[in-house]
Amino acid sequence: MKLYDARNLAFLNSAIITSVYIILFILSVGIIFSRAFDHVYTFLALGVSAAALFLISFFIFRYTLEKFIYSKIRLIYKSIHSVKVGKKDRPLARPDNNLIDHVQAEVENWETEKQHEIEQLKRLEVYRRDFIGNVSHELKTPLFNIQGYVSTLLDGGLEDPAINREYLKRTEKSIERLVRIIADLDEISQLESGQMKLNITRFDLPALTREVAEFLEMKAHKNEIRITVNDPEKLIMVEGDRERIRQVITNIIDNSIRYGKRENGKTKVTFYDMDEHILTEITDNGIGIDASELPRVFERFYRTDRGRAATKKGKGLGLAIVKHIIEAHRQTINVRSTTGVGTTFGFTLKKAK
Ligand SMILES: Nc1ncnc2c1ncn2[C@@H]1O[C@H](COP(=O)(O)OP(=O)(O)O)[C@@H](O)[C@H]1O
Ligand SMILES: [Mg+2]
Repeated sequence: MKLYDARNLAFLNSAIITSVYIILFILSVGIIFSRAFDHVYTFLALGVSAAALFLISFFIFRYTLEKFIYSKIRLIYKSIHSVKVGKKDRPLARPDNNLIDHVQAEVENWETEKQHEIEQLKRLEVYRRDFIGNVSHELKTPLFNIQGYVSTLLDGGLEDPAINREYLKRTEKSIERLVRIIADLDEISQLESGQMKLNITRFDLPALTREVAEFLEMKAHKNEIRITVNDPEKLIMVEGDRERIRQVITNIIDNSIRYGKRENGKTKVTFYDMDEHILTEITDNGIGIDASELPRVFERFYRTDRGRAATKKGKGLGLAIVKHIIEAHRQTINVRSTTGVGTTFGFTLKKAK
């Protein structure tokens, strides 16, 4: 039995009142008329009046409860419900029978939802703070460098032929770095807000990969790394934004050079036919990525400890952009790696029909 059901509450209260009435009746009538209970009429009068009292108080209680209290709770219930549902039209459950049960369930439900929202907002806030911290950290280094070079030049360096050209060149390099960071950030925010429009065409994936390999050959050579593109016999036509996919392949191969082995380094690109998709794998025999850091390499500004130790260059934005581009194509990218052995990045593209 639910105690807070209006009917049950009314019943309980009426029963208490009636019992008190019966006790008082027996006591008072028994004291005043000592022989009253010899007559059957006394019992009859007691029975009838007690029953009448019970019924009347039952209806009064029930009416008041429903009218004044439950109608207020029902209003609360309705407003909680409509706030929760928002504009969606989830029908209001019939609250007449177990109204308080419904309200309780609704409030508990609401609390869990709000808790989730609060946690998500907190996570976003941490993310936002980290992001701003990262951005300012990245901008600080080149800006301070520029400041240093310009001050030295103004303090007489301009007239010193030994350093004036050199310092201007360094200033130019730092400015280029700033411009690249801003361009990458701009690109990421465009990709994240879904504003980037893809220009989807059909193209031969190995041909594009060879173009990228040629473009990066000099840099690879300097680092004693050899790039091989597994040449398939026939064309492999895929669907996608050719320039964006060029960016993806460039970024991954560039990483394989940057984080590659210093002698006898190898970067190998292989294509796999997977029914409706082409899987492209880019494997290197470089420094590798620790298993604990592997899930984070696609985060913006994330660089591994080994990566930082290997080179000061790099901002940790390349793979974040790569992942966004692949996801904008509704495709997937993954990475596996063994430290000291090498790393493989694999991404899929849709085969052209
Ligand atoms: N092929 C690779 N081998 C080892 N580590 C890698 C490789 N590719 C990426 N990483 C790690 O992932 C991090 C993020 O890569 P990326 O976003 O391209 O940033 P960046 O190249 O600017 O450092 C790198 O800093 C490096 O620590
Ligand atoms: Mg990179």
